[in-house]
Amino acid sequence: MKKYVLVIDEGTTSARAIIYDQAGKPVASDQREITMYYPQPGWVEQDANEIWLTVQAVMATALIKAKLNPEQISGIGITNQRETTVIWDRNSGLPIYHAVVWQSRQTAPLSEKLIQDGYTDLIQEKTGLIVDAYFSATKIRYILDQVSGAQQRAEVGDLLFGTIDSWLLWKLTGGLVHATDYTNASRTMLFDINKLRWSQELLELLQIPSIMLPEVKDSSGVFGKTIPEHFFGAAIPIAGIIGDQQGALFGQLALVPGAVKNTYGTGSFIVMNTGKKKNKSKNGLLTTIGYAINGQITYALEGSVFVSGSAIQWLRDQMKLVNKSSESETLAEQSNSDDEVYVVPAFTGLGAPYWNPQARGAVFGLSRGTTRADFVKATLQSLAYQSRDVVDAMVSDTGIPLTKLHVDGGASLNNYLMQFQADLLQKKVVRSNDVETTSIGAAYLAGLATGVWNDVADLKELQGKPKNFAPKLSSDEANRLYRGWQKAIKATEFFSA
Ligand code: G3P
Repeated sequence: MKKYVLVIDEGTTSARAIIYDQAGKPVASDQREITMYYPQPGWVEQDANEIWLTVQAVMATALIKAKLNPEQISGIGITNQRETTVIWDRNSGLPIYHAVVWQSRQTAPLSEKLIQDGYTDLIQEKTGLIVDAYFSATKIRYILDQVSGAQQRAEVGDLLFGTIDSWLLWKLTGGLVHATDYTNASRTMLFDINKLRWSQELLELLQIPSIMLPEVKDSSGVFGKTIPEHFFGAAIPIAGIIGDQQGALFGQLALVPGAVKNTYGTGSFIVMNTGKKKNKSKNGLLTTIGYAINGQITYALEGSVFVSGSAIQWLRDQMKLVNKSSESETLAEQSNSDDEVYVVPAFTGLGAPYWNPQARGAVFGLSRGTTRADFVKATLQSLAYQSRDVVDAMVSDTGIPLTKLHVDGGASLNNYLMQFQADLLQKKVVRSNDVETTSIGAAYLAGLATGVWNDVADLKELQGKPKNFAPKLSSDEANRLYRGWQKAIKATEFFSA
């Protein structure tokens, strides 16, 4: 009998369901956007109930498109936007407030206070993270403060907290299972990645009752079964959960220490597998959990670049320099002037390794001869420059040289960008056959736990032929261009200061 895995990929802007067959090939999928709310500049919220209803809709449509009965699904995998925070009432099953999205800056004052009160080192030591509004901890505190009586209800166990995976798992299991996996827990700024349990000290610091937290489990394994009312009449195991960026690492089978992947989505998330070792970063990177299988934790180092693919959308939607994103590739290839133009797309500040929330975008090196093609090329190149910033920081933190860069995500389909990335790093760039590796990672984890695949050797057989980009530019030239970028970054930071 043929076996199938259904993956729920709940990203920041849309929810998708993808069904994979035993050959690891997608047989059907459906995708719908999620409404974003911006109550104030820099604040980003979503309705967790809408997320749940949308997930149900995309699952149903994917099953119909695949012409499968729900019973034919061996296991369900969940991969999700991380850090986004939901608090709901366990009795009514309803969220008590909007979900506060990872990008939202509304808890910046509380994060700032933690820094001023001297908690930076303690928090980095315990959680591997840099104190920032990006993570869930301050968002939980915020929601408990906003809703009258919420603190008391949380203390008596009436309220539950979860990242999106946890919320969906709880819904799918009809409220029977309140759990998450290690990768999602490691993004809350409440989880001790050394002792592998919620940090009592940090919970007390933020007065978050431990009773509201989910149980933390391996990324691959049966978390529970769907109740028939919530999965079209069938009881199917939810057998894999992983944060989306770690999902891509697993989907790339970047499973040896030193392997690095870059997912070029809205932002770029670069993750290095560091095996059993936790590398504390001196360069603004995050120590995090890569995946957990068979009770074995694999750690990772991560650099988050806030604007990458969204810079191409900006060229299209705001600057009107291209009609569709793919046109940027053709235009960049047409650019042949000697101008060295640098676009620094610091639209929402700079992420790793700079962490400068005040920075704003800038353009350098324009001349009377600068063309649309030059401008588009410089914007594309900024994605590669930002990735090199993070890769260099990783090499410096770990002492592990980069051998090649695994790439995926929408913008990785841009051949000009991938070639320039290889040139700039002076390393091979390897693009996976299917660039939706986030979902593939979750499919693998759920499939391993439900006998669809036996082991990693099985998974290796599923991966199609990747496309390789080898460096063509001399290293002198690459370094010269990169020095220009570093000057542009310095000037941007100077201007914002
Ligand atoms: O940390 C945030 C990240 O998980 C969001 O990823 O792909 O949903 O934008 P994405």
